[in-house]
Amino acid sequence: MILNVIILFMGSHTAVASDTLFPGQSISGSETLVSENGIFELGFFSPSGMKHYLGIRYKNLSRNNPITFWLGNKIPITNFPNVTLYIGAGELYIEELGSVLWTSNSTRNESVTAVAVILNNGNFVVRDQLNTSMVTWQSFDHPADKLLPGAWLGWDMVIGSNILLTLSKPPYNCTLMIDQTRKRGFIMLIDGHDKYLGTFPDWMVTYEENGSLVRLNDPGITNDIEFMKLQLGQVSLLKWLDNATISGWQPVWSYPSSCKVSAFYCGAFGICTSTGTCKCIDGFSPAEPNEWELGHFVSGCSRIIPSNCQSAVSTDSFVLVDNLQGLPYNPQGVMAATSEECRAICLSQCYCAAYSYHSGCKIWYSMLLNLTLADNPPYTEIYMRIGSPNKNRMHTLVFILIFGSIAVILIMLMMLLIYKKRSSCVAIQAKMEGFLAVYSYAQLKKATRNFSDRLGEGSFGSVFKGTIAGSTIVAVKKLKGLGHTEKQFRTEVQTVGMIQHTNLVRLLGFCAGGTRRLLVYEYMPNGSLDSHLFSETSRVLSWNLRLQIVIGIARGLVYLHEECRDSIIHCDIKPENILLNAELCPKIADFGMAKLLGREFNAALTTIRGTIGYLAPEWISGQPITHKADVYSFGVVLFEIISGRRSTKKIRYGNHRYFPLYAAAKVNEGDVLCLLDDRLEGNASLKELDVACRVACWCIQDDEIHRPSMRQVIHMLEGVVDVELPPIPVSFLNLMDGYDSDIYSIEV
Ligand SMILES: *[C@@H]1O[C@H](CO)[C@@H](O)[C@H](O)[C@H]1NC(C)=O
Ligand SMILES: *[C@@H]1O[C@H](CO)[C@@H](O)[C@H](O)[C@H]1NC(C)=O
Ligand SMILES: *[C@@H]1O[C@H](CO)[C@@H](O)[C@H](O)[C@H]1NC(C)=O
Ligand SMILES: *[C@@H]1O[C@H](CO)[C@@H](O)[C@H](O)[C@H]1NC(C)=O
Ligand SMILES: *[C@@H]1O[C@H](CO)[C@@H](O)[C@H](O)[C@H]1NC(C)=O
Ligand SMILES: *[C@@H]1O[C@H](CO)[C@@H](O)[C@H](O)[C@H]1NC(C)=O
Ligand SMILES: *[C@@H]1O[C@H](CO)[C@@H](O)[C@H](O)[C@H]1NC(C)=O
Ligand SMILES: *[C@@H]1O[C@H](CO)[C@@H](O)[C@H](O)[C@H]1NC(C)=O
Ligand SMILES: *[C@@H]1O[C@H](CO)[C@@H](O)[C@H](O)[C@H]1NC(C)=O
Repeated sequence: MILNVIILFMGSHTAVASDTLFPGQSISGSETLVSENGIFELGFFSPSGMKHYLGIRYKNLSRNNPITFWLGNKIPITNFPNVTLYIGAGELYIEELGSVLWTSNSTRNESVTAVAVILNNGNFVVRDQLNTSMVTWQSFDHPADKLLPGAWLGWDMVIGSNILLTLSKPPYNCTLMIDQTRKRGFIMLIDGHDKYLGTFPDWMVTYEENGSLVRLNDPGITNDIEFMKLQLGQVSLLKWLDNATISGWQPVWSYPSSCKVSAFYCGAFGICTSTGTCKCIDGFSPAEPNEWELGHFVSGCSRIIPSNCQSAVSTDSFVLVDNLQGLPYNPQGVMAATSEECRAICLSQCYCAAYSYHSGCKIWYSMLLNLTLADNPPYTEIYMRIGSPNKNRMHTLVFILIFGSIAVILIMLMMLLIYKKRSSCVAIQAKMEGFLAVYSYAQLKKATRNFSDRLGEGSFGSVFKGTIAGSTIVAVKKLKGLGHTEKQFRTEVQTVGMIQHTNLVRLLGFCAGGTRRLLVYEYMPNGSLDSHLFSETSRVLSWNLRLQIVIGIARGLVYLHEECRDSIIHCDIKPENILLNAELCPKIADFGMAKLLGREFNAALTTIRGTIGYLAPEWISGQPITHKADVYSFGVVLFEIISGRRSTKKIRYGNHRYFPLYAAAKVNEGDVLCLLDDRLEGNASLKELDVACRVACWCIQDDEIHRPSMRQVIHMLEGVVDVELPPIPVSFLNLMDGYDSDIYSIEV
């Protein structure tokens, strides 16, 4: 007891610089635990510079070759500086800004004196402080895709589960498990169905517990640094090599051992040649050149010029590859009448990597696997998507433009001086203010050909299509209200101009003069979400695309709510304000309007009657609103994306008059398929559909406390946390009973 108190006291004052985490201590952000021998460190690491996860890595090799042993169910950390790992009552916890993301859930009796230690072999264990053999949880029981020497695979009787290696490489996955029927045998499963049976060599593993468990042997006296790694379609034992000519991970053993017998040996975009080794397809180069040099090809190849699906207009092109045998792995058939249509479909989808048009259109997502060079006909023809070399030219162009404009400005300044001397006046052309271009009204009038091409009518004004600088297509919004004085407006518009995110429509410039306020935005060729969801004539959005759109919207909102400098409540989330770029990437429009319009904002918002169905109850009843008001609107929109129906429309669904209420009832009955857009004909993952419906239902809860934050919404949609069955929102119930007014049913 006394010991504990002392430790707790120490815990709040000392930074952890050891291998052990005592009760009351924590590591957060970039702090790590280091094993006693200095080889392993445990902390929150980021594989791609984006999200962080809890993992263990070689401390000395971490700079250039960060091989990280992730903990089984990788929990994504979104707020890295504010994440902590601590131990309490024998359980490990990961907490982010006060909410617990993960607990270790030990199977054995908890001990309040338990500590967490990173051992010299890289195993992170929770064990009793005094009796070190009382281990209640250990990371070796939860490997992800890699195994350290001393770790095991197979049935662990104590925790009662089958320990396996798993790898997710969207859209594919791979699992490696012990085959109980063959000595040292294992099964590798790709996408749950392509099955390969292999055997570990004698020297590599030790067979334990009657073959239900195999343990990876320690390299022993050689002191080599080794580990086992599962990649898509291949498992290898890799050894760290560092001599004068090359450093990298060299395969000591691999299964399968040649591309002649394996569809995956050459990795993504790698081609198996007649000599049995791999080369990259034209336009690609090895993703890990060192590994390729050492004869380990499964990391595959990557595009020399990256394909960019963020840009508004995809300028990617295709190259013909016509020397292949058979079709690559996992072609997806799509409906297209001509080769051109097939190409257009591929181009319109961010993740489409290639297409082929031969007795029907086939496309491949993300990567091409199982490419084999053909020795004889018949040859297969496929068209590979490659990044557009124009992009580099664009860069040069931008440079020329920048230097050109500097020169022009200098000349103009000189001319201005000369003119000034002659005491005559000259108008300066477009200029920049902070991030934004400033236009005169005349310029925008010309750019939009006198506001002739109307794109739409939003809550705050009309939007027109225009062309600036000769070729850039933009959307020009004429604001209805005046709001602030010109000076105030100029200040606020700069703040809004700084808010930039992939899922937000970018503000490019503005015009403020006299009684005129105009905003110039990037143009979104695919218009707004409502035209895709509710129109009979548009192409039906697939379920996966819908999910991508939903997650994109949620990301944009997380950015507005939590990540940008001035936290922003959007207040007007609805399908009309979700725009889609050429790749159907969603971008939220009309954010920051409260800043730009000041007091006129509320009036503008509530006079647009069609918006009311998306407004949270607290907004309508005049209570102060928070971010959760956006969460409510998001929920309503989510139901619309799922069903392809206007949530706000008053229609009979069984006993119910509003879709969200009907949906909430169906979610509770466990029957969600009937909520799916009929046009999808049931083509959706039932699990994902169920999660999406539950999330939507949580978002539209009456009391904002019961609604999740947008960050939690993303966690739920990504399956990181389970979603409990939501209660049916009461105000909708009231509506059903005819108790409430028809305030939700107002339709334009
Ligand atoms: C790690 O590197 C440091 C400095 O390069 C060296 O002193 C130390 O012995 C190395 N530790 C291990 C475990 O290799
Ligand atoms: C989050 O981390 C930052 C940086 O360490 C710190 O300034 C801030 O106070 C933390 N916020 C909370 C709520 O702990
Ligand atoms: C914790 O483990 C128990 C027993 O294995 C299981 O029933 C329970 O669902 C687990 N809880 C979590 C949150 O994983
Ligand atoms: C756990 O502890 C309880 C009492 O503290 C005891 O009755 C039970 O037998 C223990 N279980 C195991 C598996 O040790
Ligand atoms: C330590 O724990 C192990 C496993 O629970 C037990 O078998 C052993 O008797 C304990 N040793 C002591 C000294 O308590
Ligand atoms: C792997 O893919 C298959 C088929 O797509 C799927 O059934 C399975 O659930 C996936 N496994 C994992 C672990 O994602
Ligand atoms: C393991 O094998 C031995 C003898 O081959 C047998 O006595 C024992 O019951 C087996 N244990 C299990 C868990 O199957
Ligand atoms: C480095 O290792 C590679 C691969 O084992 C070998 O081919 C090469 O000869 C080695 N170079 C030196 C200088 O030892
Ligand atoms: C890989 O391609 C070869 C030749 O086209 C084919 O025979 C084999 O079935 C393919 N394997 C997989 C897993 O698709």
